[in-house]
Order: sequence, then C-alpha cells, then structure tokens
Amino acid sequence: MKKEKPIGITGLGMYVPKKVLTNEDLEKMVDTSDEWITTRTGIKKRRIAQKGVPSSTLAAEAAKKALADAKLKPDQVDLIIVATITPDMPFPATACFVQAKIGAKNAACFDVGAACSGFIYGLVCAKNLISGGMYKNALVIGVEVLSSVTDWTDRNTCVLFGDGAGAAVLQEVKSGGIVSYYIGSDGTLSNLLYLPGGGSRHPASKDTLKNKLHCIKMSGTEVFKSAVRLMTDAATHAVCDANLTCKDISLLIPHQANIRIINSVRRRIGLPEEKVYLNVEKYGNVSAASTIMALCEAVKEKRVKKGDIVVLVAFGAGFTWGSVVIKW
Ligand code: COA
Repeated sequence: MKKEKPIGITGLGMYVPKKVLTNEDLEKMVDTSDEWITTRTGIKKRRIAQKGVPSSTLAAEAAKKALADAKLKPDQVDLIIVATITPDMPFPATACFVQAKIGAKNAACFDVGAACSGFIYGLVCAKNLISGGMYKNALVIGVEVLSSVTDWTDRNTCVLFGDGAGAAVLQEVKSGGIVSYYIGSDGTLSNLLYLPGGGSRHPASKDTLKNKLHCIKMSGTEVFKSAVRLMTDAATHAVCDANLTCKDISLLIPHQANIRIINSVRRRIGLPEEKVYLNVEKYGNVSAASTIMALCEAVKEKRVKKGDIVVLVAFGAGFTWGSVVIKW
C-alpha cells in the first residue's frame, strides 16, 4: 500500500439494549438447552431491543458516545457510514436517520451492506474517502436489531443472534492508525446465509409472511467451514500487507459469531488465547456491530495500549470477508 497520511480511530462508543435474553430463557421458547448452546457456540446471553425500536436509535446512542470520546461536535462530522443488515427501512439509508437523530447536519450519509463484515467495509470506505481529501471527520457505525429478522421458532438460528451498536470516529492522526486492510467477497456462496423476503426478488406478500421469508436462513455447518478459512485468509493477508507477521499481533478482534470458529482461526494463525478478544458469551452474534462492539470493550478494559497492533477480522453473508490492521 502506498504511503499516505495516517488515518486512525479517535473516538469509540457502543450501546446495547437493556433487555437480556439468556439461554435459559430460550429453553422455554424452543427445544434447546443451555448446555447445547454453550458448547456449540460459546453464547450465554444476548441483548434484545424493545419491539419497534429501530437500528438508528441504537446507532445514534453509540454515535453520540463516540463523538464525545473524540471531542467532536455533531456538526463537525462530514461523513456517516452505517453498516447493517437490519436497516430501519429499505430506504432512506439508516445513516440518514442517524444524521437527523444526532444533528450531524454537514455529513454525507450512506449505508454499506456487507453483513457481518460491514463495519470493516465501512472503515475501509471512510479511510479512503478521508485519504482522498474529501472528508475530515467520519463516523463509522455497525448496528443491528437482528431480533426483528429472527425466526423465534427456529432453534437452528434463534440462539445465535443479538442486538447492539458500536461507533468509531475516524480522522487524520499524527502516527499509527490504519496500516493495511483487505476485503473480499464470493457471491456464489450467497445461498448459505440470507434473508430472502422483502426485496425485489420476493416482495412482501401473504406467501412471504407465511413461509417466513422475512427471517434469516442459514446452512450452519457450511457457514462454519467457510468462516474459518475466510477469516484466517483475510487476517493473514492484511497482516502481510502491513509487512508484519501474525506473531506481531497484539490483539486479534474477530467477528464474534461462535467461539469454536474463533478458536479454529486462532489456532491456524498461531496466536495464544490471551491475544484474542472475546465477548460472544455476552452478546452472541451482532453481525455488523460485532467487531466494533468488541473493539469498544477491549479498549475500555485496557486490553489495547498505545503502539499495539490490533487486527479486526470478520466474515459474513455474501459471502464477504475483511480485515483491518491498526497501529494503536
Ligand atoms: N439446540 C439443540 N439442538 C440444536 C440446536 C439448538 N439450538 N440447533 C440445532 N440443533 C440440532 C440440529 O437440529 C441438528 O440435529 P440433527 O442432527 O438431529 O439434525 C444438530 O443440532 C446439529 O448439530 P451439529 O451438526 O453438531 O451442529 P454444529 O456443530 O454444526 O453447530 C451451529 C451448529 C449452527 C452452532 C454451527 O454450525 C455454527 O455456528 N455455524 C456457523 C453459524 C454462524 O456463525 N452464522 C453467522 C455467520 S456471520
């Protein structure tokens, strides 16, 4: 990657709804057990938004905290990118709703649809738009209200997902910042994880409702195998592009989909457990909000210090994948 002025994260914030749904709660809803969910996924609980509370509400709360952390006023924000698969509506962009909620009247706003890799895709877009000179102060937000697209009668999927939001302010920094990144996709794998209803292919109808086409569909085992391969490849690729090796990683922040996927990636990369951040137990899979919420908590818990090499890595529906190497 050619030498450019450094762009880095200068503020972080996250927000999760108050309501906690535990594995024990799920035992009363579907034929499952805490033991099954814990051993297969590492998830113990997840947060659930109140009915009718849209993604933009969660995103705006996270954004306000990130702006306060960066000591920026809303009208200084000139770009808002929201990564989500649960937008408030098909249009306008959820980023526009966030703009109105936080009063960022000088920002250009758009959403990215790269599922669980969305926050990383958003970071890459914002970094390059700042590097290109168009913008100075960007807000990149990952947010999901996955409870609104979950089939609560399907034990294969309903135990996995949760709601939440995380936000990062991206600006020019004196040193460090994003040193490399790598994003990729394979649309031939789109049938493994998708939400078929409500778009132009299957517009909402009595049939789409009856057949639950407005809910997440997933082939778990196939997703699992591809996830391990693609996250390992993405992290390795980005680390190589930074002229580093995986041994240089201070903290790996993976998409928190499943503890077994994370551990397989960790072993392939050759990292000890203490160099991988985990919060999947508390929140489950929060798709586009996952890596940014994990980064927020890692920083809050002082797991990241100045000069550290932090690697975000994710995969998701599409398939999409991506990794960003940040010198903190
Ligand atoms: N409780 C109890 N049993 C369940 C269950 C649940 N919540 N969900 C599925 N099962 C059952 C299935 O019905 C199946 O039963 P059968 O064999 O009688 O048909 C069996 O468990 C499947 O077991 P197994 O094949 O051992 O599951 P697994 O080890 O593949 O784990 C997942 C299932 C979904 C946890 C795992 O495949 C996974 O995490 N995949 C990736 C999902 C993901 O990360 N998606 C998001 C990507 S961004």
